[in-house]
Amino acid sequence: MLRGGPASLFVSPLPMRSLACAAALAAALLLACQRGEAPPAPPRPKLDVADAKRIASGKTVYAQHCAACHGVNLEGQPEWKRLGPDGRMPAPPHDASGHTWHHPDAYLIRITRDGFTPGVDRPAGYQSNMPAFGKLLSELDIVAALTYIKSTWPIDHQDWQEATNKPGAKLVPH
Ligand code: HEC
Repeated sequence: MLRGGPASLFVSPLPMRSLACAAALAAALLLACQRGEAPPAPPRPKLDVADAKRIASGKTVYAQHCAACHGVNLEGQPEWKRLGPDGRMPAPPHDASGHTWHHPDAYLIRITRDGFTPGVDRPAGYQSNMPAFGKLLSELDIVAALTYIKSTWPIDHQDWQEATNKPGAKLVPH
């Protein structure tokens, strides 16, 4: 959104608003005061890095269920961009050097829950070492683990990932 664009009309300067509220209160015109309030904040993203509790529980989930493949420090497996000896792709890093931050919340949650779906995310017949955690972890645990992962990225990567959640966002394929 451009600065000074239509959205700025909704941001009334605080002193004016409190003055208006004080006057309205004095006249017992509570309704007028309520009407003068700023619009509600937009909903928080699913992977909400402002939620410290979720990050803490996600760190535990990550250590127990993800670190073995994706690395204790989210560094991924060596040579992760090439097929491994088993003919499958190694686990990519989840830190900023990987591409987890290229993907919207819904995609990351689905891949963690269901694994890759051949014919949808990957070619038909594709075999992957990424397990489907849907039967092992609750949706909240999955969201927590991904929120922890997100919390380790630099702010600009977090912002970038958040932008991919917007409808019509241009996604970088892998
Ligand atoms: C047994 C090893 C293993 C474990 C455990 C594991 N992963 Fe993975 N994960 C992989 C592999 C391998 C890939 C890449 C698969 C491919 O491209 O075929 C992957 C890919 C992913 C991707 C896609 C990344 C992208 O940029 O496309 C996400 C998201 C992911 N894993 C999340 C998790 C989370 C969260 C956990 C823990 C709850 C977890 N993984 C545990 C092996 C694992």
